[in-house]
Amino acid sequence: MESYHITGGKYLEGEYRLRGAKNAVLPILAATIISGRTSIIKNCPHLSDIRTMAAILKEMGCGVSWTESTVSVDSSPLNSFRIPQNLMKEIRSSVFLMGPTIARCGQVILSDPGGCAIGKRPIDIHLTALRLLGVDIKEEEGLLKCSAKALKGAAVPLSFPSVGATENVMMAAVMAQGETRIINPAREPEVVDLQNYLVSCGADITGAGGKEIRIKGGLPLHESEYKPIPDRIEGGTILAAVAAAKGKVLLKEAIPEHLEAILDRLSESGCNVRKDSGAIYLEAPERLLAVTPMETQPYPGFPTDMQSQFVALMCCADGTTKITESIFENRFKHVAELNKMGADIIINGRTATIKGVSRLRGCRVTAADLRGGASLVIAGLAAEGSTIVDNISHIDRGYERLEDILGGLGAQIVRTKTTKESGKQ
Ligand code: EPZ
Repeated sequence: MESYHITGGKYLEGEYRLRGAKNAVLPILAATIISGRTSIIKNCPHLSDIRTMAAILKEMGCGVSWTESTVSVDSSPLNSFRIPQNLMKEIRSSVFLMGPTIARCGQVILSDPGGCAIGKRPIDIHLTALRLLGVDIKEEEGLLKCSAKALKGAAVPLSFPSVGATENVMMAAVMAQGETRIINPAREPEVVDLQNYLVSCGADITGAGGKEIRIKGGLPLHESEYKPIPDRIEGGTILAAVAAAKGKVLLKEAIPEHLEAILDRLSESGCNVRKDSGAIYLEAPERLLAVTPMETQPYPGFPTDMQSQFVALMCCADGTTKITESIFENRFKHVAELNKMGADIIINGRTATIKGVSRLRGCRVTAADLRGGASLVIAGLAAEGSTIVDNISHIDRGYERLEDILGGLGAQIVRTKTTKESGKQ
């Protein structure tokens, strides 16, 4: 097991160039299956989730090579429609392989992706939507066996704007005969990026980011070279870290409008935020202010993937605020750990009430999920004394060496190996 050793109280200053968005690269890598050609995806961060997705593609027969931050996938030799169970368990986003595999092979077999630390994460919306495209889905011995003699375009209303379900339908519909309309789709920038990648392969898709996505299926797809958007959650996490620890940072290769809701709340907390085209500047205030009550919402609302980081930020703000987690049912595991550091947070159902304290105290805490782990790092940077964050493999799923990113801004944060049993170094 690996841990972070953090010495709090260091002023952070500098600039950072955002990397490609994990939640854009993952569905785009899955979509490379459809064309049966070579796709070159640039700006891919070295994250464990992306490595696992690449390993799944390889195990299904694709040629995958990775140089620097460019992943090249040749899906012509694909020779399986089974998603490898062992790897399926490692990343939930392997569920994004359903749509592209059905589009390419007419069938897919996968184990139920199951839940994870932040919730049950059912896939009922995915399955209902795929059935409307003519996919027959059977559950046998814990496996989902999906097949479609011929995918047919259809009107596909989503009961909730699920990001994954929207993306699965887009990818399946690309090979359906006729037009598909996705009604009430997710509007996240990563969904728009998937549309733009598929269009770069020759697909006819319009409307992503709005209230209806139209896909005219059945067009042949060709090779593509594509650069995904920068990671708005990586950017938001770094801004929250600088705001909490005090300092100033210039984020380069950022797309400010992707972080609108995050920047609004950072400004409300007293940060000086400036947006240029392609960059975001933030300077922390002497004392953060508690923001008015907020809740996480589908895009363009405040993203659930920034909830944990913002809770950490509000721990030392002047005043009391409430943050409601409306998207996932179990995404407050970081709160008990923050309270061990001297925070004053009470959970009531899906709402955290955070009463600002003057300072957090460093101590040993444990990451339970990706963004919750990032929130503990943020708290450690702001706390007095040193903090140890255990189980940082969760953090490695979404940040490429967070210690280097924050260390580059002046943070004192070291990755260490911890023996499993005693947790001793
Ligand atoms: C994507 O997950 C992201 N992951 C998540 O980021 C992100 O938190 C989430 O979207 C919401 O923005 C990737 O893109 C790889 P959903 P996804 O389907 O697609 C419920 C991170 O930290 N739901 O929009 O799985 C579900 O349980 C990760 O980077 C159903 O009930 O999210 C949840 O409560 C975490 N049935 C809500 O909808 C379904 O069939 C939102 O899920 C599907 C979803």
